[in-house]
Amino acid sequence: MANHVVLNTGAKMPIIGLGTWKSTSIGLKDAVKAAIDIGYRLIDTAYLYKTEIDIGEAIAEKIKEGVVKREDLFIVSKLWSTFHEKSAVKKACMLTLTDLKLDYLDLYLIHWPMGFKVRYFKFCFLCLHGMEELVDAGLVKAIGVSNFNHKQLDLMLNKPDLKYKPAVNQVECHPYLTQEKLIKYCHSNGIAVTAYSPLGSPGRLWATPEDPSLLEDPRIKAIAEKYHKTSAQVLIHFHIQRNIIAIPKSENPSRIAENFKVFDFELSKEEMDTIMNFNRNWRYCPLQW
Ligand code: A2P
Repeated sequence: MANHVVLNTGAKMPIIGLGTWKSTSIGLKDAVKAAIDIGYRLIDTAYLYKTEIDIGEAIAEKIKEGVVKREDLFIVSKLWSTFHEKSAVKKACMLTLTDLKLDYLDLYLIHWPMGFKVRYFKFCFLCLHGMEELVDAGLVKAIGVSNFNHKQLDLMLNKPDLKYKPAVNQVECHPYLTQEKLIKYCHSNGIAVTAYSPLGSPGRLWATPEDPSLLEDPRIKAIAEKYHKTSAQVLIHFHIQRNIIAIPKSENPSRIAENFKVFDFELSKEEMDTIMNFNRNWRYCPLQW
């Protein structure tokens, strides 16, 4: 079972990474250090998360200790929507690089397909050429998008002046939101997919008691028991078998370790089909602006 996905740039992106959305400054730095010690090489962050300073310190310490080299790591960040104007893109990337104490990112994503302020809530490609210039300047190895639907990707891919195809589309994905059509579209167009909220984002502040819980789903629990695994491990593994990168968030070292032990079992085709049928187009992270 491959532990990476090959991007359309030729780069290898680890298939499991540490998610950091909703991480707190109390636990994050130690969480990133623990993750690197455990073997994680992909760390996902964003300007919006306010996590980049802590992540940068953790990475710098691990490089200094000789645990990893910069080139062993795959660091992803995201351009926030207030920086879509072409002239603002490089400034935003430099802020991120400074906080992360890095001189390049492995992947830089357009966080949402709309810019704020400049073109309020409007889907636009204002930042696209600014993103492409970051590749030419050596500040990012690849560019990609996040939260794009297939129509938005189609518009982008058909832009006559598109220089670099997005390498990745990062979207919410899990058994209640299997994103079948979007993933088929991405993969057939050479775009890798990263699943965020693979565990159903149990720590989200807007949860209500009526919301379905993936981790508590008895059908997931039954599959987990069969393989002597936890529900979280089944939920993460589900993505590996679809060739999708997963970035479970945790600040707890034992859960960080648990979430990485997902390469030593395989789900049958029937089990994969069964889990795919749990789809109910449920979004834990709906756009509520
Ligand atoms: P914690 O950070 O305390 O470990 P998602 O990636 O879907 O957004 O889920 C992240 C949430 O799931 C966090 O609240 C995280 O809490 C929790 N979590 C992460 N790993 C596990 C696990 N293996 N079992 C149960 N909960 C987990």
